[in-house]
Amino acid sequence: MDPIAFLESRRSASPKALGLPVPSGAELERILTIASRTPDHGRLAPWRFVVLAGPGLASLAGAVGEAFRADHPEADDAAVRAARQRYDDAPMIVAVVSRARPQHPDRPGIPEWEQILTCGAVCMNLLHACHAHGYGAVWLSGWPAYHPAVLSHLGLAAHERLAGFVHVGTEPGKQEDRPRPRLDELVTMRDR
Ligand SMILES: Cc1cc2nc3c(=O)[nH]c(=O)nc-3n(C[C@H](O)[C@H](O)[C@H](O)COP(=O)(O)O)c2cc1C
Repeated sequence: MDPIAFLESRRSASPKALGLPVPSGAELERILTIASRTPDHGRLAPWRFVVLAGPGLASLAGAVGEAFRADHPEADDAAVRAARQRYDDAPMIVAVVSRARPQHPDRPGIPEWEQILTCGAVCMNLLHACHAHGYGAVWLSGWPAYHPAVLSHLGLAAHERLAGFVHVGTEPGKQEDRPRPRLDELVTMRDR
């Protein structure tokens, strides 16, 4: 596919539609290398990846279920199953972790905002890299992305935040695109 058509055709997958196969080890290495090829003021690499597949995903789903049960002691088993379903059903998740710091020990002069923007760009690059390899992907958060017990299960340090769970897998077929923003509402031209 030509690169412009490629960029024009990327859209997020429905997480429910994603299945096997997932990227091989070699493909994943390439995908994460491409994702990491991102503008980064100060070369701080203010992100990292936690790749969840197989038992690692089952264990994440368990942690989400436990967090939900702790917060909703009245919940029955069906409600707990529903809360963890997204993780039980996912074929592979790349959790993207922001390591942005307000006063980064290596470069205190680099604004935290710019480090956060870099991590967001990594997520977007990751979506494109998955698409380029023929896989579907979608960037999701939801309450588990902010829950201390889930973040602790994923091994996040106190200063780290989850930029999102990027679900990756194979889509059964083409999905409808969504309406896209109107450019005339977003662009101000000042060229004269
Ligand atoms: C940080 C972040 C978190 C998101 N979390 C969710 C989510 O939890 N649930 C959801 O349905 N969409 C979520 N989205 C939106 C989807 O990733 C995506 O924007 C939407 O499905 C349409 O995607 P497309 O424009 O790539 O086709 C999130 C997007 C971002 C940037």
